[in-house]
Amino acid sequence: MKHDVVIIGSGIAGLRAAVELAAHADVAIVSKVFPTRSHSGAAQGGITAALGNEEEDRWEWHMFDTVKGSDFLGDQDAIEIMVRDAPRAIIELEHMGVPFSRTAEGTIAQRAFGGHTRDFGKAPVKRACYASDRTGRIILDTLFEQSIKAGVQCYAEFIMIDLLFNATRCVGVVLLELATGKIHAVHTRALLLATGGAGKIYKTTSNCFSNTGDALSIVLQKGLPLQDMECLQFHPTGIKGLGILMSEAARGEGGILLNRHGERFMERYAPVIKDLAPRDIVSRAIVREIREGNGVGGSDYVHLDLTALGPEKIKERLWEIASFATIYAGVDPVHEPVPVQPTCHYIMGGIPTDVDGRVLGADEHKPVPGLFAAGESSCVSVHGANRLGCNSLLDLVVFGRRAGKAILSSLQDGGVTHDKPDSPGSGRDTIEKLLAARGKERVPAIRRELQELMTDHCSVFRDHRGLETAQVKITELKHRYRDIGLSCRDRHFNLELIEALEGEHLLNCAEVIVLSALHRRESRGAHYREDYPERNDQDFLHHTLVATGSGGMEITTKPVQITRFKPVARTY
Ligand code: FUM
Repeated sequence: MKHDVVIIGSGIAGLRAAVELAAHADVAIVSKVFPTRSHSGAAQGGITAALGNEEEDRWEWHMFDTVKGSDFLGDQDAIEIMVRDAPRAIIELEHMGVPFSRTAEGTIAQRAFGGHTRDFGKAPVKRACYASDRTGRIILDTLFEQSIKAGVQCYAEFIMIDLLFNATRCVGVVLLELATGKIHAVHTRALLLATGGAGKIYKTTSNCFSNTGDALSIVLQKGLPLQDMECLQFHPTGIKGLGILMSEAARGEGGILLNRHGERFMERYAPVIKDLAPRDIVSRAIVREIREGNGVGGSDYVHLDLTALGPEKIKERLWEIASFATIYAGVDPVHEPVPVQPTCHYIMGGIPTDVDGRVLGADEHKPVPGLFAAGESSCVSVHGANRLGCNSLLDLVVFGRRAGKAILSSLQDGGVTHDKPDSPGSGRDTIEKLLAARGKERVPAIRRELQELMTDHCSVFRDHRGLETAQVKITELKHRYRDIGLSCRDRHFNLELIEALEGEHLLNCAEVIVLSALHRRESRGAHYREDYPERNDQDFLHHTLVATGSGGMEITTKPVQITRFKPVARTY
C-alpha cells in the first residue's frame, strides 16, 4: 500500500493534521480503535484561550501561567506560539462546527481552571472555553466529520507494529489488521505519530485501554530518543478506586476539596488560588492529607464537594461527570460529596519535536526526515514538568495543524518520493514469534505487576530507593516477558496477541520513565523526589533525553528555551 501521508492515531491532533493536509495530498489515518473512540473524546473541562469573553485576559498572562505551571521546564518559544495562536484556533473550531457553551450575550463561555490566573498570578481567571463537560468529545466528533468531508481515508482497528527507514529517512510503517491478522507495509512520503499517552502503565488511570505508549516504544526501539519521560501528571480528582475523571471544571465552577474533618485543606497549600492550584500541587496535597490520616474515614481518599453549586448548574455544566459519580461511585453530587483520589492522567514527556512537529533524532537533535509527531505522544515541549488543565486540547489543535502544514511543505519541496525501505522491518517476525510463543508467563500477570510497581514507586512521590527497586523489577519483568506464551493462535481479532504487543510497549515506557526519574535528582512540577524536595535550577534546568545506545539506554540533556520569564519560586 502507498499513501503520501499516513497519520497514526485518530485523536484530535491526528485529525487536525489530516484536515489540514487532505485537500493537497493523499492522506490516511490509522487507528487502533474507531476514530470517535479515541481518547481525546474523554477530555472534559475545556480548551484554553485568552479570549477575555467573561473577564479581562491576555495571552501574556496565559503564557506566564503555562511557564510557571510547567515549573519552568516548558520551552518558552513553543509556549508563546501556542498561547498566541489560541484565540484563532478556538474561532476556527467554532467555524468547523464545534458547539461551544455560550454566555448570556451569545459569546463563547469560559470558566476557571487550575493554575490559570489574571495579571501574572493575582487571582483565578476564566480562560477555558467549553462545551458543557464534553469538550474533547465534541471537538473530536467535529474534526472526524471534517476529515470525512475532506476525503481522508481511515484504517480503523489497525495497529502500528514497526517503522520503515531508508537510511535515516522514515519511509513507511508496518500495520497489523485486527480483523484478519494480515500484515501491511504502507509506503509513505511523510508519517505523523499522534498516538496519545501511556497511562496504562499505572493501576489507576483516567486513560482508555488503548493508551499503551505504542509510538513511544517503537521510536525508542528504532534508536530515537524520548524526552522528559519522568514528567507524568496525576490528576487530583479521579473517582476513588477507578480513576475515572471528575473534571477540574467541577472546582472551576465552585466545587471544593474536603478532608475527613470537613476542612477545605487547599487553603493551607495554596492560599491565593486554593482548590484551583495546578494539578501537581493539588495531587501532592491530597496524598499528604491521606498520609497524615486526614483521608475520609482515615482511608485513602478525600471528598470533592459540589453540593453548593445547586442542581441547575450541575445539570447544565457538569452533567456528564455527575452521571459518572452516580453510576460509578453511587453518589449524587447534587446532594453528597464524591470520593476522589489522584489518578494517572497525562504524560508531559514524549517524542521530541520542533515547533512544527518534526521529530528530533539523537544526533545533535536534528530532524528525522519523513517523521513527524504531535499531541500527547510528542514533546514539543509546552507543558514542561506539569501541564495546566485545558492546555492539552489547545496543544493538539495548534501543533496538529502546524505539523500538517510542515508535512505539506515537505511534500511540496519536490524531493520527497516514495523511497523503498532498507529492509521489510521486524514487524512480521514479531507477530509470528508471538503467535508461536509457548512460554509459561502470561502477559496480564506481567502487566498487573508492572502497574503495581509503578504505582508504588513512581507516582505522585518518588525517591531513590523506590525508583531503584522499580528499575530492578522492570528488568526482571522484561526478562520474564521473553518467556510468555499465548493460548490463542487465531489471526482474527486476537486480543491476546494485541495485549502481548502492548505489554512490551508498557515495559519499555516504564523503563524510560524510571531511568529519567532517577536522573532528575530534584523536585520539579509533577516529578517530586522526597529525597530531593527542592527544585535545583543549577543542575537540572534541562530536558532529559533517553535513547538506546550501544551500551544500553543512555541519558543526555538539552537546554530549556527561556525567553520572557526567568525561573522564580513557584507559589500560588
Ligand atoms: O479536568 C479536566 O477536565 C481535564 C482537562 C485536561 O486534562 O486538560
